[in-house]
Amino acid sequence: MSFLRATIFSLVFLLAWHDAAAAVKVTSPDGKIVFTLQVMEREELRYSLSFDQQIIVKDSRLGLRFRQQAAFDRGFQIQQVVRAGYDDNWEQPWGERRVVRDHYNQLLIQLGDNSGRRFDLRVRIFDDGVGFRYEVPGQPGFQSVDIVEELTEFHLPEGSTAWSIPGRDYNRYEYLYKKTGLGDIRTAHTPMTLRTPNGAHLSIHEAALVDYAAFTLEQRRDNVFQTRLRPWSDGIRVKTAAPFKTPWRTIQVSGDAVGLLNSSLILNLNEPNSLGDVSWVEPGKYIGIWWAMHIRDRSWGSGPIHGATTAETKRYIDFAARYGFDGVLVEGWNTGWDGDWFWNGELFSFTEPYPDFDIHAVSDYARSRGVRLVGHHETSASVSNYRKQMGPAFDLYESVGVRQVKTGYVGDAGDIKRVDDNGVAHYEWHDGQFMVNEYLHSVQEAAKRKISINTHEPVKDTGLRRTYPNWLSREGARGQEYNAWGSPPNPPEHTAILPYTRMLSGPMDFTPGIFDLTFDGEQSEQRVQTTLARQLALYVVLYSPIQMAADLPENYEKRSDAFQFIVDVPTDWEQSIALAGEVGEFVVQARQERGGSNWYLGAVGDDTSRQLKIPLDFLPAGTTYTAQIYRDGPDAHWKSNPYSIVIEEKTVSAGDQLKLFLAAGGGAAIRLVPEVETRNGE
Ligand code: NOJ
Ligand code: CA
Repeated sequence: MSFLRATIFSLVFLLAWHDAAAAVKVTSPDGKIVFTLQVMEREELRYSLSFDQQIIVKDSRLGLRFRQQAAFDRGFQIQQVVRAGYDDNWEQPWGERRVVRDHYNQLLIQLGDNSGRRFDLRVRIFDDGVGFRYEVPGQPGFQSVDIVEELTEFHLPEGSTAWSIPGRDYNRYEYLYKKTGLGDIRTAHTPMTLRTPNGAHLSIHEAALVDYAAFTLEQRRDNVFQTRLRPWSDGIRVKTAAPFKTPWRTIQVSGDAVGLLNSSLILNLNEPNSLGDVSWVEPGKYIGIWWAMHIRDRSWGSGPIHGATTAETKRYIDFAARYGFDGVLVEGWNTGWDGDWFWNGELFSFTEPYPDFDIHAVSDYARSRGVRLVGHHETSASVSNYRKQMGPAFDLYESVGVRQVKTGYVGDAGDIKRVDDNGVAHYEWHDGQFMVNEYLHSVQEAAKRKISINTHEPVKDTGLRRTYPNWLSREGARGQEYNAWGSPPNPPEHTAILPYTRMLSGPMDFTPGIFDLTFDGEQSEQRVQTTLARQLALYVVLYSPIQMAADLPENYEKRSDAFQFIVDVPTDWEQSIALAGEVGEFVVQARQERGGSNWYLGAVGDDTSRQLKIPLDFLPAGTTYTAQIYRDGPDAHWKSNPYSIVIEEKTVSAGDQLKLFLAAGGGAAIRLVPEVETRNGE
């Protein structure tokens, strides 16, 4: 329907393009970004991108290489160019904004060689960046295709600064971002974000990763990064058959850092909702028997400090009911956690509870109190063991009213255990084609039972929540858990980098809200390196439709004044506007509650204190608001005085500027509630 409503114009140029230096261009709707494809002298295909008349991606190679067929790397000519434009709005069932504008110009370049082989390059160019993908139509000799290399390059501006994590190390995406020059990067996961010497901000990533391998970036020559597809255990990178299309290769582009945060490019390049009515997908807040295990107060396995007991779960349910949380996550209720569960994934049962956990009694109790149990499936990377039990495992959860399951794939990168039909084990990557399909399979199986998924140790997000709205959130970065046991814990700037990097790919289950910041003693290095106010700010800054209040109930009751913000803050938004910030330094994010008129504002900084002045002109004119402010005290500092917080109220309106002090490692969280609506906008 939405396509019919759209403004579509389509011009077809039938051109016999045999000029070896032929070039085609397409420009973003606002004219600022230009994509150019050229057939070079050596008959290689190269593209470039400019922004504000400056080259931001210099002649970069395109192409695919196969095991059985000759490569699509040179010898191709442009045979036909089809142009189209599109401008429409679509609605998210839940999200950081309800209405998303999808506005682009499209170029479909049909390429062919002398032997009659064909492929297309489809380019969509928006005001906030570009996506392009290879589309290989069905043709003789392509019934079975093994891709052994993708040649796509990004030749980035010399002298740029990048924020990246390594692309091929054992700990998947769970690294601290490093700010470096391009020369210091060998491999990087995406999104990789950079600032060019001219101040433009780019982020390289991919969209709609389905039945294909994820890529990491590898620097091949100075400033030239190639897409390296993660291979299967047998070395093939992608196993497919024509017709097929690759995921979109994306470059988000903005004149400033916050522009990246306001981009919807990744979502726009995904297919619409394929699940139909998804009213059963429920954003919301949850607590859980979780942090207690990470700080070693409780255990996942059975024994004297087993966390997932019936009694303890009921205590959490009571707390959730008292404060309006939707769910209680319980980890460690199913057998298999005893011993070293990291290495023992084969032992997990997904249906058999430990004797001290009565799943029926607990879920009935939860429902009687208006709360739901949140399920948990940890596989420890033994995915075939999980696959065998997946049907009954989701059936059990469905039968006891569970609506959300957190899945986990703990295991080193490259250690995903796939057992084939002959019983032989193969070890795959979390981001290879096998796992890309496996993660999606779990989401589809869950959807059949009206269950939503929150994946830990996932493949990176590429916007598939649009197509599968029950894929609510995922991890895929260093989250709060690193503050419990990580060496080092997350430094203050970590959550000022995430919005500009990891979060550009989609929601993250970071699990904010630790109130006992020095749980291991004030002298311990193992602590949360933020102020208390910043823990509140993270609920607004780090978007996820499900947010955990991660700390123990008793720690919230000790600081009920600050806890009120977590009780109030929603997780579903009408609109979101990033107001100010610089990568790794600070970010100020405003969001309007979905279905309501309250606004929320979150700001976080780095390791230095700063004073911010925030114009409130995003508020509708003519309404005054009570701003409930939770900010760092003047003497706050994440290390020496993390609990210093000021909670105060002010009356504000759209014409005001809010002055905010952020301490070192600090933050501010603000709830804006309309006071009086005056007539005529006065
Ligand atoms: C890693 C997950 O990120 C964490 O949240 C979970 O508690 C453990 N795995 C155990 O499943
Ligand atoms: Ca994890």
